[in-house]
Amino acid sequence: MLAAISRYGMRMVPDAAQIVRQCRERGQLVQGPDVAAFEEEFARFLGQGHVRAVSTEYGRMALLYILKSMQFPPGSEIIVPALTFWVVPEITRVAGLKPVFADIDPTTFTLSPAAMERAITPNTRAVLPTHLYGLSCDLDPIMALARRHNLKVIEDCAHSLGATYNGQMVGTFGDASFFSFQAFKPLNTFGGGLAWMRDAELARRVGEYADAEAPPSEERVRKILRGGWLQRTFIRPTVFTFSGFPIWWACSLLNVKPDVYLWEKVRSLDPVPEQYRGKFSNVQAALGRAGLARLPEFIERTRRHARILDSLLGDIPGVCPPRIPSDRTHVYYQYCAYVPDYRELIRGCIRRGVDVAPMHVDVCTRVGLFGWNGPPAEGADKAATAVQIPVYESLADHEIERIGRTVREQVLKQARPATAV
Ligand SMILES: Cc1ncc(COP(=O)(O)O)c(C=O)c1O
Repeated sequence: MLAAISRYGMRMVPDAAQIVRQCRERGQLVQGPDVAAFEEEFARFLGQGHVRAVSTEYGRMALLYILKSMQFPPGSEIIVPALTFWVVPEITRVAGLKPVFADIDPTTFTLSPAAMERAITPNTRAVLPTHLYGLSCDLDPIMALARRHNLKVIEDCAHSLGATYNGQMVGTFGDASFFSFQAFKPLNTFGGGLAWMRDAELARRVGEYADAEAPPSEERVRKILRGGWLQRTFIRPTVFTFSGFPIWWACSLLNVKPDVYLWEKVRSLDPVPEQYRGKFSNVQAALGRAGLARLPEFIERTRRHARILDSLLGDIPGVCPPRIPSDRTHVYYQYCAYVPDYRELIRGCIRRGVDVAPMHVDVCTRVGLFGWNGPPAEGADKAATAVQIPVYESLADHEIERIGRTVREQVLKQARPATAV
């Protein structure tokens, strides 16, 4: 029997266990010198500006601190792409601001500059471009519009550490940016995140918010590490085949969508949940330093996988693999492709042991929490019909080949007319 392949893989440095052991033995799980060293190395990686590692568990706290530090008048409008993780516009509401949704370009899945322009009003103060799935937004026109209307630009780099636009790292174009270090993100420290600021004064204010948090308890840090290791074990093909996969498989037969249970329930985040509090810990920073050193290698391997998928899928009529404009590089947090019938394809692939998934971010104009009554977002609606095909770096060569061939076979099967009975 073939092992099942999970939709997510975790980037783990080979010496992760040793790094954790050393921090524990030195009594530096919670506090220690790695945090400052990590920040210095991250700033060097980006090449400019000021950085602060924040929060024990969530990169979104970096966004909250940035928004608060920018001191916009209450109720100011912040332009957010209609396609992003619901938490992003919700955090703008927690900061006392009003998210205004602008449609995306469905070919790149990122903010449409034309839609951004239409969303600008005299109350707009900032725009929050999400570099979704590992590809940069079209930053030249976005930055030009922001300059013309005197808007702050805060880049959401949760998916895109290492991606470039015109040769420059994403996260260094605007006034500020933020990164997420959740277990499945490009840099995995089992949670937490980082804020980047162009300006020293903004960095000082963000730093005050980060400093005001208490260090997490050692028990909490150990629990986070244990949780991360458990997740990693769960998605290993040998374990996944007999644990999560049978549930996916049964759901595919029953036409039930289990994905909603994987993600955080959409809800108000005001007041900020207790779990969001706490400083980024030293052991996370130590893991982050090691992950950052390996990042180019991780990205290269993931890109190689994407090229294999491109070559196996690119010639099939009706299939549209990710398109990368020539001014950008992709880091493939997700490999998202349009296919003729996404529901049928997902069912077919899952039955063959390949966990192809529907889109996992949100069409925010359709999320009840935001009560959106502005223009519909047709680009974001279209994006919801794309599928996510596993592409992550830890896949073996034979696994990525199998994924590509399975998707190919299933799409071609769909394209064959049904035989008459
Ligand atoms: C596009 C996007 N932005 C922001 C975030 C928030 O990151 P975190 O969960 O670390 O707070 C996520 C998390 O998945 C995300 O997908």
